[in-house]
Formats: sequence, structure tokens, C-alpha cells
Amino acid sequence: MRDVTVVVLPGDGIGPEVVGATREVVDALAPSADLSIAWAEHLIGGISIDAHGTALTDDVLDACRAADAVFLGAVGGPKWDTTDPDKPRPEQGLLGLRAGLGLFANLRPVAPLPALYDASPLKRERIEGTDLLVVRELTGGIYFGKRGRDGDSAYDTCTYSRGEIARLARVGFEAARGRRGKVTSVDKANVLESSRLWREVVIEVAAGYPDVELEHMLVDNAAMQLCSRPADFDVIVTENLFGDVLSDEAAMISGSIGLLPSASLGEGTNGLYEPVHGSAPDIAGKGWANPMATVLSAAMMLRYSLDAPEAADRVEAAVASALEAGALGRDLGGTLGTREITDRILVALG
Ligand code: IPM
Ligand code: MG
Repeated sequence: MRDVTVVVLPGDGIGPEVVGATREVVDALAPSADLSIAWAEHLIGGISIDAHGTALTDDVLDACRAADAVFLGAVGGPKWDTTDPDKPRPEQGLLGLRAGLGLFANLRPVAPLPALYDASPLKRERIEGTDLLVVRELTGGIYFGKRGRDGDSAYDTCTYSRGEIARLARVGFEAARGRRGKVTSVDKANVLESSRLWREVVIEVAAGYPDVELEHMLVDNAAMQLCSRPADFDVIVTENLFGDVLSDEAAMISGSIGLLPSASLGEGTNGLYEPVHGSAPDIAGKGWANPMATVLSAAMMLRYSLDAPEAADRVEAAVASALEAGALGRDLGGTLGTREITDRILVALG
């Protein structure tokens, strides 16, 4: 048995529900993967603000640094919504974690199952064959630039260094090598200086990957192309804010944001795994949340941080076969709740 420690941060809203379901699934298969997982649970987000006045304490960040992986549910909710710049916000916990752990690359795969083609708001013939990966820069850009208020004005700044762009681009090119060999770099180089640097550096990095095809696309056009011909994309590399927006848009190709997992990685093997969806306060506590995005995030954790790729494949196959057998949550027009969907996945795991 290999001992690993996973810090688990259920967070707010539906976070605890989907994380609880995922732990059941991972615990059910860990022994057969020769893994003994110690889950160390901590607070993040709004629940941490209530307990400690801050969305992420230093103790929790230290625990995350010392762990093999960090698993997160969701943060935020109307209770903590504020426009007061001096008040703590749940999202600061997530951003602090990404920055504090140096997790600069966010991977968001979108590959709808044939069984779900008709669940997407896009026509089947448009989404057929879609299998794309958004590689979003996660610790730079406008999310982390200088911001403030100045009299009647407010500002946020977007800064990128060559090094920040290059290391993210490399993640994208490496990923493309193991896939269909194509990178689409998304920017706004017709307007933004940071995007012109982005384009320059991506071209330099591409020189080291002659086997990978590179195309550049302006973000507005990319938003349109994602709806009109999503199957043409392989790997999308882009900066923080564009990646935030495009990955939510891409989620709908698969029919529901309730299916989309993510991994946030840095230089080492530690990573942060979380569903792309948020805390969904409107359905929190009802038992309706679809845990599949979170379960699939655990598969990414098994693959990237816990060195258990076969277990990862098994989890993904179990979710796919549960879906194919009709395990549809309310997000996909079905009636199953968190408990039933979890049971279907457990059955499919065998
Ligand atoms: C995401 C979320 C976060 C982001 C929020 C909660 C800060 O939307 O992970 O995409 O904007 O990065
Ligand atoms: Mg987002």
C-alpha cells in the first residue's frame, strides 16, 4: 500500500455534497489501486470567513503545501457577496491557493460522450467528435494585477512576463503531443499589449515543438468558433480571464457544466483538483447536485498527483458507463440526485 495525503476542502454550497460523493467513489477503488488515502479536511471560502475572518488561513495553505494533492468542492454564496473592497470574499481562498501553491496551469478537458450529444444546447452535428482541452494560465494576468479605486474610478491591470507565458505554453504543447498535435493560442493581440507579448512568446516556444501545429485566434472569434465548430479544437492555450470565460462556454458543449473537471498544476506533482462549476447556492442542501464533475476531477488527481493512471481510467470509464446507462441528473434533464448518481457510479466501478 502506498500512503498518500489529500487535503480536502469541501467549501461552500454544494461543495460538501459533491466532495462527499467523490470520497466514497475514490475510497471504494483506492485499495485495488494499492493506495491508502488519508483525507485531511479543512475550511476554505465562506465557511472559513465565518470561522476565521479570512477565506484561507496560513495553516490551511501550509497543510496544502505539505500534501500530495488538494481536492476542492466550491467556494462562494450570496451570504458573502459584497462589493466592499475591504471585506473578505470566498473567492480569495481559491485564488490564494492557486498563487500560494504556484499552480499556473489549469487543465479543463471537454469531450462530450456520444450518449449526451442531444443534451447539449448545440446541435449534435456541431459537437460530434469534440475532444478539446483548455489550458488556462492561472496565476497571472488581470486576476493578480494591480487593482484599486481612485476617486470615482476603479482599475484592474493585466500583466504577463515572458516566463509566465512560456511555461504555460509548454504545458499546452506537451499536452498536444499526447493528443492530436494542434495548439490554438487565444489572445486579443489586435488590441492588448500583453496579448502581443503572449503571441510572440508562444511562437518562440512553438519552435521547440515542430511536430505540433500552432494557430492563433482572437478571443472574440474563439468564442464564436467554439459554438460553430468545436470539434476542430484540440488544445487551447490562453490567459487567465479568457480561459475563465471560454471554459464555461466550452462546458455547454458537453451538455452541462456539472460534468466538467479540472486540474491545476505547477512545477511539481502536487495539484489542485476541483469541478469547473461553482457552489450553486440555489440547489445547496437539496441533494440534487451532480457529483460527476467532481468525481472526474478525482480521476485527474489520481492521474497527475497520485501516480495511479489506471485507477483514473477506471473512474472515468465508470462515469461514462453510468451516463450511458441513463444516470442523468437534473442538470441533464434527468431526475437523479447526488445519492443515486453516486450509487450508479459505484455500481459501474464494480
Ligand atoms: C473558476 C472560477 C473562479 C475563477 C472564481 C470562483 C474565482 O470561476 O475556477 O473558473 O474565476 O477562476
Ligand atoms: Mg470560472
